[in-house]
Amino acid sequence: MCGIVGGFRRDGAVVDSLVDGLRVLEYRGYDSAGVAVVDERGLTVRRKAGRLAELEGEIKDGALNGASIGIGHTRWATHGPPTDRNAHPHTDVAGRVALVHNGIIENYLELRDELTAAGVELLSDTDTEVLAHLVGRELADAGDLAEAVRRALVRVEGYYAIAVVARGAEASMVCARHGPPLCVGVTDDAAWLGSDVLAILPHTREVIFLEDGDVAELGPGSVRIVRPDGTAAERAPKTIEWDAEDAGKGGYPHYMLKEIYEQPDVLAQTAFSRLDLDRGDVAFEGDLWDDEFLSRLERVQIAACGTALHAGLVTSYMIERLAGVPVDVDYASEFRYRDPVLVPNTLALAISQSGETADTLAALRLATALGARPATICNSIGSTMVRESESSILIEAGPEIGVASTKAFVAMVVAGYMLAVRTARARGRIDADAGRTLLEELRLVRPRLESLLADDAVERVRGIAERHHDAKGFLFLGRGINYPIALEGALKLKEISYVHAEGYPAGEMKHGPIALIEPGMSTLVVAPHDDVAEKVLSNIEQVKARGGEVICVGSDPDCLAVADEALEVPHTGSWLSPVLNVVPLQLFAYFVALKKGCDIDKPRNLAKSVTVE
Ligand code: G6P
Repeated sequence: MCGIVGGFRRDGAVVDSLVDGLRVLEYRGYDSAGVAVVDERGLTVRRKAGRLAELEGEIKDGALNGASIGIGHTRWATHGPPTDRNAHPHTDVAGRVALVHNGIIENYLELRDELTAAGVELLSDTDTEVLAHLVGRELADAGDLAEAVRRALVRVEGYYAIAVVARGAEASMVCARHGPPLCVGVTDDAAWLGSDVLAILPHTREVIFLEDGDVAELGPGSVRIVRPDGTAAERAPKTIEWDAEDAGKGGYPHYMLKEIYEQPDVLAQTAFSRLDLDRGDVAFEGDLWDDEFLSRLERVQIAACGTALHAGLVTSYMIERLAGVPVDVDYASEFRYRDPVLVPNTLALAISQSGETADTLAALRLATALGARPATICNSIGSTMVRESESSILIEAGPEIGVASTKAFVAMVVAGYMLAVRTARARGRIDADAGRTLLEELRLVRPRLESLLADDAVERVRGIAERHHDAKGFLFLGRGINYPIALEGALKLKEISYVHAEGYPAGEMKHGPIALIEPGMSTLVVAPHDDVAEKVLSNIEQVKARGGEVICVGSDPDCLAVADEALEVPHTGSWLSPVLNVVPLQLFAYFVALKKGCDIDKPRNLAKSVTVE
């Protein structure tokens, strides 16, 4: 949802660093890109609709080389179509200030009218441009860029992360945040800012995560932070342990494929160091994971979006059945507007890869305001959700760059499973032996996951995907804890291959979707060998009887035998079958998209992190 970078380096070579930073952040939005630099000649802006490569073409004349200070942006359009004119950075009338923005300025129409009445001609359709003019006007008065930004933001309603540069006697770079993420890092010779720690990591591991309301002035070796009322604030840097290379493609043609292959290791990273097999329990850090709170727990309210929502649904089956605690799962965007009623002793559990999704964050805040205790299952240390939660479970999946989430999903489900076991132990629902058996299953699942990624298994999925890629439509069916896997399989296919796919509870098929079944329609059925396998078998027969083709994914031998195509998944205890069943579905979506020539890591219209409503 827009990526922002900025750099101030003494050696005057900022442009290449900006482009490198934008390349890393392109996953956040990629419909246009731009940079602005300041040097002794003044302020220069270059921006271009399309992918970053278009911008690189624009700046290869070298005219921006030698500048020490610059900001850059990669856009996911909200206000105004993706054109050159709407691309960031935007400048003020005097051409003194350039600004990039991620978020939404909610009162921009009012500010726009005010500027127009004052004779300012607005050149774009964006909400961002008004900010550039506001900062420009304040700068004329204040003389100091940080102070000008602070004053301008007092007028603004909405959510933003911004970075601003200005030409003048004392060149400077300022950034501010209220809502979307922004982090900064300084070394002796340079200062950096970025929407994501990935943009800072090539330069330093010591990263400061700005808080809402912070305005930061950056220079080589220095960061000065002020609050909206002008008082100074100190923020301690956090040390980031993983490497920038962890976010590279590592020889795979796409990030998505690399991330699918990482899943066995991700499972280990999320789980293994937290297993206390002697006690048949899980060791989580955080007050809300203690016996005291979990034994009093009356309800769990999960809120999430997209793939994280599906992980939440799987988690709800686990917590309800293992720990006996009722669980509600809501789309975060629905929860926040449905006037929810929460009972006392509710755990509000936000599930999010990024920890920044606007709807999920708003749902977490609302649940907290309604008296629930806020917690998160999240992949991003330092994210807003983690900071606003009393306790968190960090899933340790490493950076996920492919827009279609894969490894974060598996890690979230594993975290949800461990939380279910911990809660069941805290409430005395299971003893140490039962807990140990459940947790040992996690160790057994890792090699099974690996077997699904062996060459022959992957090639089998590729073959089926290539045979079915042109189907009229796709129906994904699953039951019980694998119903969310059907939803996730359909979502993956839609996201990256742009074909229509629906996920449905298998038993509900007869109430509507069965009308879609005809020759040329492909149905993927998730069929683990469990207590509902027989029911799934009849669903398969119903599809086949109407001429539909069935691809069966699972471990039930009878279902696999009657299907037109079979993708066998190793059997595992029923709780963790979703972790295995999702893998062939991820690969299926990947190979259909590949066959169709789609842009797998940057699917159209989507963004990795949606920090607007
Ligand atoms: C976007 C992404 C999805 C993701 C969802 C929630 O829509 O494209 O892949 O599942 O946001 O993101 P989160 O960071 O909260 O897990």
